[in-house]
Amino acid sequence: MSKPLNIGMIGYGFMGRAHSNGYRKVNNFFDLPYHPVLKAVCARDEAKAKEFANRWGYESVETDWRKLLERKDIDAVDICVPNNLHKEISIAAAKAGKMVLCEKPLSMDTAEGEEMCQAVEKAGVPNMVWYNYRRVPAVTMAKKLIEEGRLGRIFHYRAVFLQDWTISTDLPQGGTALWRLDAAAAGSGVTGDLLAHCIDTAIWLNGKIDTVSAMTETFIKERTHTATGKKEQVKIDDACAFLARFQNGSLATFESTRYARGHKALYTFEINGEKASIKWDLHDLHRLEYFDHKDEGKLRAWRSIHVTDAGGEHPYMDHWWVPGLQIGYEHSFVHQVADFIDGLGKGVLADPTFRTALETQRVCDAVLKSAASGAWVNVG
Ligand SMILES: NC(=O)c1ccc[n+]([C@@H]2O[C@H](COP(=O)([O-])OP(=O)(O)OC[C@H]3O[C@@H](n4cnc5c(N)ncnc54)[C@H](O)[C@@H]3O)[C@@H](O)[C@H]2O)c1
Repeated sequence: MSKPLNIGMIGYGFMGRAHSNGYRKVNNFFDLPYHPVLKAVCARDEAKAKEFANRWGYESVETDWRKLLERKDIDAVDICVPNNLHKEISIAAAKAGKMVLCEKPLSMDTAEGEEMCQAVEKAGVPNMVWYNYRRVPAVTMAKKLIEEGRLGRIFHYRAVFLQDWTISTDLPQGGTALWRLDAAAAGSGVTGDLLAHCIDTAIWLNGKIDTVSAMTETFIKERTHTATGKKEQVKIDDACAFLARFQNGSLATFESTRYARGHKALYTFEINGEKASIKWDLHDLHRLEYFDHKDEGKLRAWRSIHVTDAGGEHPYMDHWWVPGLQIGYEHSFVHQVADFIDGLGKGVLADPTFRTALETQRVCDAVLKSAASGAWVNVG
C-alpha cells in the first residue's frame, strides 16, 4: 500500500495543469511508495482557484501562498508561478520543512539560486526542478546511448529552441503568460525561458560548459505594460545565440528566439561523435535519429528509432501501452513525478535537484554577461 504525499500547488497556469495531470496519472502507471494527494491549490483569485480545484480534484484552495506553507497537512510545495517568486517561496517552504518542487529556471540569477540551494540543503528537504525534457523517453534514450559510449568522443553539440509568438508589436508585457516579456517577473527573456531547457539537457548529456560567447537582441523596444497601461521599455532578450566550449573539448552552438516566423516550439538538438551522431526534435518527440558509422558502408544511413518499445528496451515505455504506441509531452511530467516519488522511497533525490539546476543558472548568467560585454565569459 502506498502512503499519501500531500501536494500544495502554487499557480494554476500552464505548468499548474501539466503538473496536476502528472500527479493524477502517476499511480495508474507506476508502482510507487507514495501517491500524490491534491490537498490544495493556491492562487490570488479565489473564484478561479476554486474552478481549477474542481476541475483537477484539489480538496481546498488558498489565496496566499504563506498560508499554504503554514498548513500542517501539506508535505510538498509545488511552485508553478513566475520566476521572480521562486526564491522567496522556495526558501520559506524549506524553512517550513516542506519538500520543494520548483519550476525552471531555478531562479532569476545564480546568486538567488545559491541562496535557494543553501535553504533546501540546510533544511534537509527533498527538492527538484522541473527540467522535464530529460524525461522524454527519446531524450533519456540519448543519455543511455552516450553513457554506453556509442558516440565515442563528442565533437559537436547543437541546440535550437524557436518560437514566433511575440512578433506583434501590440502584444503587451506582464500578466498571465505575458510575464515572460517583463524582465522584473522573468529575469531574462529566451535565455532563462527557452535556452535554460537546452542548457540543462546539454549539461546532462555532454557535461559541464566552460566558456561562452553570446549575442542577444531585443527587437521590440517598448510594449504596453498590463499592470500600468503605459508603454514601458522591454528589458528582456527576444533572441539569443551563443557559442560554447564544453569541458570535454566539444564545441557548441545554441540559438533561441521568439521571432522565428513559422515555429511554435521547435526544440532540437544534435550531437556529433567520433563513432555516431544523434538528433532529437520536440515536434517528433518519440523519435531519436541515430547514425552509426560502423554500419556496413552501403547501408550506412540515419535511422529513425521509434522510442516506444517495451521489455526494458526503451526508457519508461514498459509503463505505458503496447510497443509501437507513442506517448507525448505531458508524459514527461508524469515521469518526473514518478522518479521524484521513487527517489523518496529509496532516500535519494531525483535529478535535477536545486544544486544541479544551479549549473544551468551559471551558464545563463555567463551568456547574458557575454552578450552585454561582447567578450568570452568563463562559466566559473
Ligand atoms: N518545464 C517547462 O517546460 C515549463 C513550461 C512553461 C513554464 N515553465 C515555468 O513554470 C513557471 C510558471 O509558468 P506558466 O507557463 O505556468 O505561467 P502562467 O502564466 O501560465 O501561470 C502562472 C500562474 O502563477 C500565478 N501567480 C502569479 N503570481 C502569483 C502569486 N503571487 N501567488 C499565487 N499565484 C500567483 C498566476 O495566477 C498563474 O496561475 C515559470 O517559472 C516558467 O518558467 C516551465
